[in-house]
Amino acid sequence: MRILVIGSGGREHALVWKIAQSRLVDKIFCAPGNGGIAKIAECLDIRVEDTAKLLEFARKEKIDLTVVGPEAPLALGIVDEFKNYGLKIFGPTRKAASLEASKVFAKELMAKYKVPTAAFKICEDMREAYNYIDEIGAPCVVKADGLAAGKGVVVAKSNDEAKKAVSTMMHDKIFGDAGNKVIIEECLFGQEASILVITDSKEVIALASSQDHKSVFDYDEGPNTGGMGAYSPAPIVTSVLFKDILEKIVYRTIDGLAKEGIDYHGVLYAGVMITRDGPKTLEFNVRFGDPETEAILPRLKSDLVEIMLAVSEGRLSGVRTLRWDSRACVCVVCASGGYPGNYEKGKEIFGLEEAAKLPDIVVFHAGTQLKDNKIVTSGGRVLGVTGLGNTVKEAIDKTYQAVEKVSFEGMHFRRDIGQKALKTTGIL
Ligand code: AMP
Ligand code: GLY
Repeated sequence: MRILVIGSGGREHALVWKIAQSRLVDKIFCAPGNGGIAKIAECLDIRVEDTAKLLEFARKEKIDLTVVGPEAPLALGIVDEFKNYGLKIFGPTRKAASLEASKVFAKELMAKYKVPTAAFKICEDMREAYNYIDEIGAPCVVKADGLAAGKGVVVAKSNDEAKKAVSTMMHDKIFGDAGNKVIIEECLFGQEASILVITDSKEVIALASSQDHKSVFDYDEGPNTGGMGAYSPAPIVTSVLFKDILEKIVYRTIDGLAKEGIDYHGVLYAGVMITRDGPKTLEFNVRFGDPETEAILPRLKSDLVEIMLAVSEGRLSGVRTLRWDSRACVCVVCASGGYPGNYEKGKEIFGLEEAAKLPDIVVFHAGTQLKDNKIVTSGGRVLGVTGLGNTVKEAIDKTYQAVEKVSFEGMHFRRDIGQKALKTTGIL
């Protein structure tokens, strides 16, 4: 089979790495890819939003299956376009992608189908938003309706901070039309977990649980990022809790969508807060998480291509269960100096081979580029150093030993990835 993967991050490197292990696959292309992906796939100079060029390429090159990494092409309707031409593609349609592309859509669906989530109000103008902030009081959460590259959520500690967030979204339009409507919601407390499932709307197969680390600094301090590290499994998600999340959040959402006439195909990612009142939905993503995927896929023993193919052909019921490596996996993101704010690019990365030589370690590339035979930085999140261990503690230790081998000017990373798992299991 000939596979096309769309995207250029650590998630896509993990996908390409896993896809390359499939006995079904002869050749992988990646658009646009990165410095690490270039070693196992042919990278194409096509932007992820350029649906027309991607379609042209897939038709010309007789691609058997296309796998979409990021949300932007899904929200633009790449799946609908490919399906119109009879091409197989893994991911939800434009309408189904509204679950991530419009938080208003997601919240209304959750309310209608009784999916547990934070109490909220959809606000169409600033006055309405300010009034609701005064009514519920801080802490509260302000969310832009549309896609905002992971930056559209502000957890406000004071009413003033919440109102300022509303004003930057609705008045200053920092996210453009994505801020035409905002959601003000109740602040939830607890530990977060990421639950990803693969579905063809009829059948749902859960992937292993995981946990992201969104804040830039240790102990969840500082601004939110795309994710500074992850581990899998998340011990906070006991088997009883996992079942509860699937029943109350995942199945209700997929069934709700079906009742609205929307068949969901692909990965559905539920960001969940484990509160004292049970699990509540923070958000939905319509794709694999990043960096969760880097921590999940090294544990997956089954052939991912077989599963994705089954979804794109609507026959997931034929795929029984997935086989998992029982070991724990930890991914530590190494980021550019200044990230998630401004940062410089083009810094040479050292020590990649030494790190990769260590047992049970794989270094996924995110923002990297191959330039004059050297790997240089080209993004905010640069590498996802990933390790497997018999226990979370062992996985953490092995991964950080590998992190010590890599370096580039300005590199920073969190030193506490996985600590919550140790606390949950009583080791800390
Ligand atoms: P989202 O993009 O919706 O996942 O939000 C990004 C992050 O903001 C989440 O991972 C949480 O850390 C935080 N967040 C979102 N909604 C809430 C909420 N209702 N209460 C507390 N934290 C939240
Ligand atoms: N790790 C969070 C996300 O993929 O959106």
